[in-house]
Amino acid sequence: MAFPAGFGWGAATSAYQVEGGWDMDGKGPSVWDTFTHQGGERVFKNQTGDVACGSYTLWEEDLKCIKQLGLTHYRFSLSWSRLLPDGTTGFINQKGVNYYNKIIDDLLTNGVTPIVTLYHFDLPQALEDQGGWLSESIIETFDQYARLCFSTFGDRVKQWITMNEPNVLSLLAYDLGFFPPGVPHLGTGGYQAAHNMIKAHARSWHSYDSLFRKEQKGMVSISLLAGWPEPADPSSLSDQEAAKRAIAFHLDFFAKPIFGDGDYPEVVKSQVASVSKKQGDPSSRLPEFTEEEKRTIKGTADFFAVQYYTSRLVKHREDTKGERGILQDVELEFLTDPSWKSMDWVHVVPWGLRKLLKYIMDTYNNPVIYITENGFPQSDPASLDDTQRWECFRQTFQELCKAIQVDKVNVKVYCAWSLLDNFEWTQGYNSRFGLFHVDFEDPARPRVPYSSAKEYAKVIRNNGLDGH
Ligand code: BGC
Repeated sequence: MAFPAGFGWGAATSAYQVEGGWDMDGKGPSVWDTFTHQGGERVFKNQTGDVACGSYTLWEEDLKCIKQLGLTHYRFSLSWSRLLPDGTTGFINQKGVNYYNKIIDDLLTNGVTPIVTLYHFDLPQALEDQGGWLSESIIETFDQYARLCFSTFGDRVKQWITMNEPNVLSLLAYDLGFFPPGVPHLGTGGYQAAHNMIKAHARSWHSYDSLFRKEQKGMVSISLLAGWPEPADPSSLSDQEAAKRAIAFHLDFFAKPIFGDGDYPEVVKSQVASVSKKQGDPSSRLPEFTEEEKRTIKGTADFFAVQYYTSRLVKHREDTKGERGILQDVELEFLTDPSWKSMDWVHVVPWGLRKLLKYIMDTYNNPVIYITENGFPQSDPASLDDTQRWECFRQTFQELCKAIQVDKVNVKVYCAWSLLDNFEWTQGYNSRFGLFHVDFEDPARPRVPYSSAKEYAKVIRNNGLDGH
């Protein structure tokens, strides 16, 4: 169970989930500040990320954890509104710039490669007030922000992720309204937001390509979440088709435009058109790219960044109630196999990762793949001796190794989610994904390694599962 020489072993975090310091040193509010401050039980016990792990003031403590693990890569995100309080480059908050400069410099001094995400769910509130991702004007604003980051940090940062999981964000924030701004637009808003996100990503990739790549020699991609959908009844043709629709709506919706031919998958286009028609909509609720847009979207990623947590069984189901929504458009239901072990919402299916990686290799012309997130949650209170969770990681590494050695998938980097227990969005602090435990009752926010952190450090040292 050896990994290729030079394989990257990382861990990931995101700004809102760990930083705290929500209004310190000139930071502007993000949509998550607004949403959590509004209360209303949309987040577990109305918890907030106001302090979170305190990483804004305790970065040195995070660095100790990173060194203790021996990580080769650390993936973190920039808080857009810490750098640009109103979201625009009209005013740049120098203290925010200093904070991220210090993180980047400390990582490099310690031989750790930074992977930097520009935007991980925490849109500046000022931009949400102008329509957020539903408004086309955000494409230009995002591009200006991206250029600022490339020009400020790109002399040292060579691996960029423009956006984290736009496929999840568009659904949760703008279709269902579970994430801020919290307003559902079933069957329309999610598509519109996704459409603008794809265009914004592509625009910023072109900016990097034309203005920075020659000098900085870095790479730019976008992180997409994907679960593996397995037909509930493998002998049923309609379940097989449903499983194909599941991955098309979830992963290929973003991956095909960006890594393929610039356009949405055919099955997504025909499915949304036919359900729209059935529901009496005058035309398909799915927006269309112009030919010119398709040309500029195609090929706008330098590697494939994927995040995997769980898998589902998929069963065909026609939406008889006529409800609108992206989930209804797919016409399927998700089931789980009772034999799968579950950690909170994560059904532990390590072989799903192997199948997913093979799918990406076959569908997208064998790209270089980074797994930018993968992990397992424990409910609060979590025991420091997390043997069960380590077993999930161990089996996942075995499957990853088979994907690389047997299937010849070109995976270069693996990042565990997460370095620290942190603010798990609507689950608050109740769901603990950290390799390090954080005591959220203690003002000093002490970080203590779980047993799995010690095991992960061994894997990193051996570059594989030696003796496991
Ligand atoms: C997100 C993380 C989140 C993790 C666990 C991913 O969808 O990128 O921010 O904490 O999953 O739910």
